[in-house]
Amino acid sequence: MTSRNILPASGKLGILTPGMGAVASTFIAGVLAARQGLKPPIGSISQMAHIRLGTRGEDRNPLIKDFVPLAELDDLVFGGWDPISPNVLEAARTAGVLDGEDLSEISKELEGIIPMEAVFDQRWVSRLDGVRVKENMSKWEQAEALIDDIARFKQENNCDRMVMVWCGSTEAFQEPSEVHASVAAFEEGLKASDDNISPSQIYAYAALQSDVPFANGAPNLSCDIDCIVELSKTRGVPIAGKDFKTGQTLMKTLLAPGFKARMLGLEGWYSTNILGNRDGEVLDAPENFKSKEVSKLGVLDTILQPELYPDLYGDIHHVVRINYYPPRGDNKEGWDNIDIFGWLGYPMQIKVDFLCRDSILAAPIVLDLALFMDLAHRAGESGVQEWLSFYLKAPQSATESGPEHDLFIQQTKLKNTLREWMGEEPVTHSEAG
Ligand SMILES: NC(=O)c1ccc[n+]([C@@H]2O[C@H](COP(=O)([O-])OP(=O)(O)OC[C@H]3O[C@@H](n4cnc5c(N)ncnc54)[C@H](O)[C@@H]3O)[C@@H](O)[C@H]2O)c1
Repeated sequence: MTSRNILPASGKLGILTPGMGAVASTFIAGVLAARQGLKPPIGSISQMAHIRLGTRGEDRNPLIKDFVPLAELDDLVFGGWDPISPNVLEAARTAGVLDGEDLSEISKELEGIIPMEAVFDQRWVSRLDGVRVKENMSKWEQAEALIDDIARFKQENNCDRMVMVWCGSTEAFQEPSEVHASVAAFEEGLKASDDNISPSQIYAYAALQSDVPFANGAPNLSCDIDCIVELSKTRGVPIAGKDFKTGQTLMKTLLAPGFKARMLGLEGWYSTNILGNRDGEVLDAPENFKSKEVSKLGVLDTILQPELYPDLYGDIHHVVRINYYPPRGDNKEGWDNIDIFGWLGYPMQIKVDFLCRDSILAAPIVLDLALFMDLAHRAGESGVQEWLSFYLKAPQSATESGPEHDLFIQQTKLKNTLREWMGEEPVTHSEAG
């Protein structure tokens, strides 16, 4: 196989996150700690995973980061926007994810990362009161201001390339409307400050107009609208979304393929969480929770294929709840009660109690998405990057056939994409890994 012509990862890569709260600050702190050799980047596939090449007997298993030309951690520069956080050290302290001890060695660097003024509108996140915002502007002017921010950041930080990963609060639920149908309609809408255009969509538009790949880590409508897909293709810039796959949904996409592999039936799956961080507070508003609920509920149907297996999966009761409970902070507790059935229909139950740390699971995803989106851009990719579905709860699909949710199929697709780009044979049989 011939390899792709991938431009080298020379110079600095700027990673911009609209939203510099718990996830973004944990991500940045972890990268700073890793590059000082203080802690390894655990959970990052781009940094820690090996990839098998050729047949098993060839014994070729390089690290992914040695196999594909990724930006080095030392070459990353961080920036972003937030309507509340004054700097990333404060954001990390407010989030309370990392211990003071872990923050102390990198506190100067974190304090020096100051979010830019945000494009923010409380209509989309009713529980937050933004103070550091771009005010008295039309949506068109806000987009222009973001494009200026991106250009200034790039120049001031001497960046060769940039990527953007939305780590902002989950916006209120929304269906696509006419203003999202084409780039022309969206631009008219920006000029008219159309109510249906949310802040995250303005960031996505500004990113693509600046030739910056955009990934959406939250469940709200952002780059999964026709106008942004169209723009990503015409500008030749990759996009990916949406909603980082962490916590309970990660467990779901680990367990459900196992039930299906063994042809065990599923009667119901009840998932509930208690969560006390700012994300939990935002999701306590029904219109914001609705975005999350839709993204979480889609997973089981695609994995279990009830249309092919009506006897096993034709009538599933799937319920997802999130309860805001401040004492728990970022350390979410997710309970799952899973009602399965086996031989002769005999019922069984599985209980999962996952005492997880949301931002600890999300941070390496931000890193990997940023590095792989930059790689895709240098490899000449544009449009939806389905091969990054591995990281996302509600993967955006590039085709009519819809998204793939099974984590292990997603992992194979991710690794095979890298193999193909580098001129290696894909691994498709049962020894994939
Ligand atoms: N932590 C996880 O495991 C996980 C998993 C999947 C998705 N997510 C999503 O990632 C996002 C970030 O999560 P978090 O825990 O860091 O939340 P957080 O509340 O700590 O941080 C979000 C930040 O976004 C800022 N913000 C809100 N609107 C903005 C705007 N228009 N422009 C710029 N900034 C804006 C807020 O001020 C806040 O500081 C949320 O949408 C969450 O649902 C998180």
